Amino acid sequence: MASVLVTRRLPEGGLDPLAGHDLVGPNHDDRAFTHDELVAHARDVDGIVCLLTDRIDPQVLNAGAGRLRVVANAAVGYDNIDVAAANERGIVVCNTPGVLDETTADVAFLLILAAARGAWVAERDLRAGDWPGWGITQYLGRDVHGAVLGLVGYGRIGRAVARRAAGFDMTVLHHTRHDTGEPGWRGDLDALLAEADIVSLHCPGGEATRHLIDARRLALMKPTAVLVNTARGTVVDEAALADALHDGRLFAAGLDVYEREPQVHPRLLDAPGTMLLPHIGSASFTTRLQMAHLATSAVATVLVGGTPPNVVTPG
Ligand code: GLV
Repeated sequence: MASVLVTRRLPEGGLDPLAGHDLVGPNHDDRAFTHDELVAHARDVDGIVCLLTDRIDPQVLNAGAGRLRVVANAAVGYDNIDVAAANERGIVVCNTPGVLDETTADVAFLLILAAARGAWVAERDLRAGDWPGWGITQYLGRDVHGAVLGLVGYGRIGRAVARRAAGFDMTVLHHTRHDTGEPGWRGDLDALLAEADIVSLHCPGGEATRHLIDARRLALMKPTAVLVNTARGTVVDEAALADALHDGRLFAAGLDVYEREPQVHPRLLDAPGTMLLPHIGSASFTTRLQMAHLATSAVATVLVGGTPPNVVTPG
């Protein structure tokens, strides 16, 4: 019987595609395995279902090499997995594309609206009893309707955000390295940043995009602009972003992801105009179950000699 390591708790029913397999884990308290524990478990299994909190590096892959055939990340991003190293060892890597686009785009839009309109500050005051009553100069935000939205990355999630933006009469620009041939394409990221009122990040994480939004690029943005990140925390230099917000060089930021999760840069915690969410982009009941199914089905497919549709290649 094939043995599969499931590193963390999955939504109820998420393990169904692995019925009949010998399952190892998860921890009952949903604690992430330490790296040493991952290495130790990888020696004895044919497949791994992991989450983005698990670092699947050459050490883990070496431990599994010979027996381990597949690693499926229950996430669309896979910057936690060394895909090239896995493939060199004949290990297939899978992710969960397609099922979380709309749910993540909803959260991107939530952050766009909440950050631009300063919603959380206003709510905080109201709950604290600090709202003195309506005033014409209170809680002034930036309009989302009619604004220029700059999307960095234009894959499935970026496009889902663009569809929502159409309903808000926004002008939508997008930056990708290769010309999409579609209206609003900007090959020059710097130009898009300077033009946009709201910038929303939808590119993959990993070394290629590390600190893509750094101090220099933040300085190109309008002081009235809003930055939203539902992609990966590493895309933004958090210290530089905190400086820009504290210095009033950027109006607001809406963040769902962080460079060193679950830590958040301390200067972001008290930066003005900063709406912070704990990486909940794909967190709806339906979507998280679909993600779990896609990952566990992929493992089941590989273990019977098949090729699932959601195999990733080094990017
Ligand atoms: C979540 O961040 C994911 O990559 O699925």
